[in-house]
Amino acid sequence: MASHSHRPILPWALLLVIISCSLGVNVSAATFSIAEATVTELQAAFKQNILNSTQLVEFYLSQILALNGKIRGIIEVNPDVFILAAQADAERKAGTANSTSGLHGIPVLLKDNISTQDMLNTTAGSFALLGSVVPRDAGVAEKLRAAGAIILGKAALSEWAHYRGSLPNGWSARGGQVLNPYVMAADPCGSSTGSAVSVASNMVAVSLGTETDGSILCPAYSNSVVGIKPTLGLTSRAGVVPISPRQDTVGPICRTVTDAVYVLDAIAGYDPYDSATEAALQYIPPGGYLQYLNASGLKGKRLGIIRNPFFIFPNGSFMAQAYQNLFQILSQNGAILVDNLQIANLSAIFSSQSGEGYALLTEFKIALNSYLSELVSSPIKTLADAIAFNLNYSTLEMIPQYGQTLFLEAENTTGITDPLYQEALASMKSLTENGIVKLMMDNNLDAIVTSNSTITPVLAIGGFPGITVPAGYSPNGVPFSICFSGLQGYEPRLIEIAYSFEQATMLRKPPSFLV
Ligand SMILES: *[C@@H]1O[C@H](CO)[C@@H](O)[C@H](O)[C@H]1NC(C)=O
Ligand SMILES: *[C@@H]1O[C@H](CO)[C@@H](O)[C@H](O)[C@H]1NC(C)=O
Ligand SMILES: *[C@@H]1O[C@H](CO)[C@@H](O)[C@H](O)[C@H]1NC(C)=O
Ligand SMILES: *[C@@H]1O[C@H](CO)[C@@H](O)[C@H](O)[C@H]1NC(C)=O
Ligand SMILES: *[C@@H]1O[C@H](CO)[C@@H](O)[C@H](O)[C@H]1NC(C)=O
Ligand SMILES: *[C@@H]1O[C@H](CO)[C@@H](O)[C@H](O)[C@H]1NC(C)=O
Ligand SMILES: *[C@@H]1O[C@H](CO)[C@@H](O)[C@H](O)[C@H]1NC(C)=O
Ligand SMILES: *[C@@H]1O[C@H](CO)[C@@H](O)[C@H](O)[C@H]1NC(C)=O
Ligand SMILES: *[C@@H]1O[C@H](CO)[C@@H](O)[C@H](O)[C@H]1NC(C)=O
Ligand SMILES: *[C@@H]1O[C@H](CO)[C@@H](O)[C@H](O)[C@H]1NC(C)=O
Ligand SMILES: *[C@@H]1O[C@H](CO)[C@@H](O)[C@H](O)[C@H]1NC(C)=O
Repeated sequence: MASHSHRPILPWALLLVIISCSLGVNVSAATFSIAEATVTELQAAFKQNILNSTQLVEFYLSQILALNGKIRGIIEVNPDVFILAAQADAERKAGTANSTSGLHGIPVLLKDNISTQDMLNTTAGSFALLGSVVPRDAGVAEKLRAAGAIILGKAALSEWAHYRGSLPNGWSARGGQVLNPYVMAADPCGSSTGSAVSVASNMVAVSLGTETDGSILCPAYSNSVVGIKPTLGLTSRAGVVPISPRQDTVGPICRTVTDAVYVLDAIAGYDPYDSATEAALQYIPPGGYLQYLNASGLKGKRLGIIRNPFFIFPNGSFMAQAYQNLFQILSQNGAILVDNLQIANLSAIFSSQSGEGYALLTEFKIALNSYLSELVSSPIKTLADAIAFNLNYSTLEMIPQYGQTLFLEAENTTGITDPLYQEALASMKSLTENGIVKLMMDNNLDAIVTSNSTITPVLAIGGFPGITVPAGYSPNGVPFSICFSGLQGYEPRLIEIAYSFEQATMLRKPPSFLV
């Protein structure tokens, strides 16, 4: 239906010929298309003078005009986007572009809970933060600007990153309902919904999402794109509307592993405004992450397959067969599959017994009040104000059945000296040590393999990384993926595994907007 819009906008480029390029990729001017191009290909096209950033921005704005009314992935477009593109083009011409960055001149979309000190609002999807003035760029936004990326706009999300009440995935008062571009009636998941659907449908080159528990991996899974949820502290959370500093992470959501790794390289690192980034510096390899884009990366990797509960399908069903084929591909590419493993106490991790829910309520109140207190100005200054705002402007914010239960429960918490809070922390620590850590150590694993994002509480309470990669489509067109995850600092091997799997399968297709 909208597939006609996935076309190059460079008819004049037909006249040009294949030219070589130092990035190790040649793009052919005759066949080059912005839609679906990787960052490597976009950089090659810049270098070969068949593309500039201004044209790239024009293309994405035309996609946004054509598609955003339907899928609502983008909440605001940066009014300065052409100024930024012209600046990138001028730097490239003058030879002053940041030569160590793959993102120079590349448009990026930020989830609407990541602060930018520009014309864009930062609202977590809520009218309560509209017009608030942030003290500075978020740490990750500052790093993207240093890399030369162009901030194209803000992505819609599940309001307050799904930490208000029982809102539908992808709904916010400001953004409305984000839809899944593959099957519009299918769950788009959240909370980084707009980031996922916008890259999936080529409304932007790359995007950032945030995850406290599932908010990157789940929408990436549901919208057939790659999501990286990094080790806690690998990327700065400063200037990000928080839920919990113990669990919040910022990571890439992109069409390919390659694109996601370019973004990770640009945003990982120390930020004086987030002390967790100092502790995580030890995990960042010299030379960054691009070196792990190795098509032979599966070779010799020990992968633990957690069938129960992630791959329990009726025998002979489409999904059972699909994942069986994928396991075979992993093995044919040199991975050593350690099958039928179990994570100890998994049902406890999935239940309220884990302590995660309780701890998040306590942490959310403290962290949100701290974020709000640092705003230069804002309609609300505390969580209590946010609750009052929602009641006061109920026609804007409060579809009654969505409620604000989590806000109310969080407001009731009494801080980190609460003995129940301390118990919750101890429980999560024990479940992590006895669970995924013990399993991976005992079996000497490089990664565990799961299907959908139901693994995310395990990663969330441990501060552990995961990568999800598109793995196919159900007979009615709904995407599914495969998820590789590990312990803190395992990004290099997870990237090798994910990239090698992606290159061996190349299963992602652009969306077809089925109703
Ligand atoms: C790119 O094209 C040039 C000239 O045709 C060729 O010498 C070079 O090997 C090509 N590079 C790649 C990575 O294909
Ligand atoms: C970008 O490329 C187009 C087509 O070649 C050209 O018309 C335009 O002037 C270029 N813009 C900049 C800012 O270099
Ligand atoms: C930011 O919000 C204000 C309303 O407070 C609105 O006028 C403005 O257009 C918004 N900015 C963008 C870039 O949409
Ligand atoms: C260039 O970009 C990289 C990230 O890709 C960043 O670490 C570095 O600070 C940037 N250099 C400058 C001079 O801004
Ligand atoms: C913003 O990002 C953090 C990082 O994951 C996320 O946990 C949080 O839910 C988001 N907050 C809001 C209010 O949108
Ligand atoms: C890629 O992985 C293979 C298999 O592990 C290894 O032999 C090779 O050295 C790697 N290549 C690079 C460039 O690291
Ligand atoms: C997702 O994971 C759950 C287990 O947590 C499982 O019941 C379900 O079948 C999985 N679905 C898919 C499509 O992988
Ligand atoms: C599927 O078949 C195998 C034997 O081939 C059997 O052991 C297993 O219990 C069956 N699983 C289901 C879910 O029916
Ligand atoms: C509630 O609405 C009134 C009237 O618009 C306004 O003066 C007041 O500041 C609002 N209170 C909150 C907490 O938003
Ligand atoms: C908040 O605490 C009060 C007093 O203990 C209790 O009555 C109320 O139900 C609590 N509200 C929520 C949402 O937990
Ligand atoms: C988890 O499992 C281990 C071993 O099965 C057990 O010793 C431990 O008590 C369980 N509970 C927790 C909270 O870790």
